[in-house]
Amino acid sequence: MMNYKQLFRLPFDVVKRITSYIIKEINEYRYPYKKRYKKLIANYKLCGLDQTREIHLSYLNSLLKELGFPLYDESNGMYSEHLIIFAAIASSNFKIKNILEIGTYDAKTSMILATLFPESTIRTIDLEDDNPLFLQTYDRNENVDKFIRLRNKLIKKKNNIKFIQSNSLRITLMEQLPKQDLIWVDGAHGYPVVTSDITNCISLMHENTILMCDDIWKKSRNNDSIYKSNAGFQTLEAFSKARVIKNIYLRKRIGKKFNGNYKFISFSRLKNNQK
Ligand SMILES: C[S@@+](CC[C@H](N)C(=O)[O-])C[C@H]1O[C@@H](n2cnc3c(N)ncnc32)[C@H](O)[C@@H]1O
Repeated sequence: MMNYKQLFRLPFDVVKRITSYIIKEINEYRYPYKKRYKKLIANYKLCGLDQTREIHLSYLNSLLKELGFPLYDESNGMYSEHLIIFAAIASSNFKIKNILEIGTYDAKTSMILATLFPESTIRTIDLEDDNPLFLQTYDRNENVDKFIRLRNKLIKKKNNIKFIQSNSLRITLMEQLPKQDLIWVDGAHGYPVVTSDITNCISLMHENTILMCDDIWKKSRNNDSIYKSNAGFQTLEAFSKARVIKNIYLRKRIGKKFNGNYKFISFSRLKNNQK
């Protein structure tokens, strides 16, 4: 049995680990996995999607295998519920011809979209390779040439991907952009860019468009302009209050270690056209 003095001698990270373990257990007790899963499936229904998530997941995995990517694991990098939702959309009656992605990053999501929707055109936008923000974010500056080479190699594999190197704020000037059927907003996550991205994307929606945004923090104490912010949520809610769109929020990750955070994927449709 440890005495009081010994406990205080424990290294800081051990104390931190124990605290985080206790918090996780409390969160799990308050909002158990079963309830989270049930809510997630109920949200699939609200989105008008088939609720057999396991089937969408195995469909996604068969595509990931085909692409030579690791199988779905929500703890793996940029993998999260959006990929399963995309697979569900691909198996639905939604007609998807034009897809817009803001934030290409390593182009893996573009590849997955291009494979799930082989008849569609995927326009994916990211900053120019020499843009200081591109170089300074997502730990790219160390190995930027390799990052660019691998991304471009992937993009070349699919002829239905159009890569647009531009600041997404310039979408307003891209007159040739048609209305989009599916939009994935995943560029800068804070003010002012995410607000502008959502606003511009709403103007590219038609009555059946699905607008999805990544990393929607319903609450966030430390907001920044790139990675973590409640700006996306506030913007989506403002458009909802103005009766422009209707939003559904699905948990980004469902496992125990992500329980207790406020990170969601949004799924929006134009309000007038909700059945
Ligand atoms: C989270 S990553 C995108 C991840 C990718 N969509 C996926 O699903 O894996 C965000 C990307 O947005 C890009 N980005 C940030 N601000 C941007 C802007 N103003 N215009 C275009 N791209 C931007 C970043 O360079 C980065 O590559």
